[in-house]
Amino acid sequence: MKIAVLVSGNGSNLQALIDAQTGFGSGKIIGVLSNKTDAYALQRAQDANIATAVISHQDYPNRESFDAAMQQQLLAWQVDLVILAGFMRILTPNFVSQWQGKMLNIHPSLLPFYKGVRTHQRVLNTGDRLHGCTVHFVTAELDAGQEIAQSALQVSPNDTVETLAQKVHQLEHVLYPQVVEWFCTGQLTWQHGQAYFNQKPLERPIQFAQW
Ligand code: GRF
Repeated sequence: MKIAVLVSGNGSNLQALIDAQTGFGSGKIIGVLSNKTDAYALQRAQDANIATAVISHQDYPNRESFDAAMQQQLLAWQVDLVILAGFMRILTPNFVSQWQGKMLNIHPSLLPFYKGVRTHQRVLNTGDRLHGCTVHFVTAELDAGQEIAQSALQVSPNDTVETLAQKVHQLEHVLYPQVVEWFCTGQLTWQHGQAYFNQKPLERPIQFAQW
């Protein structure tokens, strides 16, 4: 199973996936694609001898042509699974539909709460006691595809955006490799437009770990 990881930034989740990929069975990260030339994630990929590609959205007149260029690269790599790991572009419905059931994302909140950006700040503003991260299948609507698994943490009164970001990242680095392993080993599948876990329809996200 050939895996491509799409990134835009630091790539700490990419690093966690690289470090865990011996557990992915036949799954192997064969390419890292960035829309930013200066993403540190590219360095991480090179250090791990993984092919890289940069497709800058600024070189394309619209989302459709940018996504078409990415699609071409993914097809050239003969990818079976696409992993979004801090990839900061909204994808077109046409692109997403070509990867239905084969594209995962990690989001720094307990979805369906706090879709979109600045999740830690919004959690603090609301005064929530629980926060965390979610891995989900990607559909055309932003952060709205079926949730697969979540890790939660207790928000303490002393938490700041920075401490929450750090704690959520730690949870992500365990959760994302676990979900990818489930996918690569066939425990997690996509059938008839929905997620299955151990051959049963997944009715609610798996609660993976509590802080
Ligand atoms: C993570 O918090 C992830 O949830 C979000 O973007 C961030 C990426 O961080 N989608 P990194 O680049 O993997 O360090």
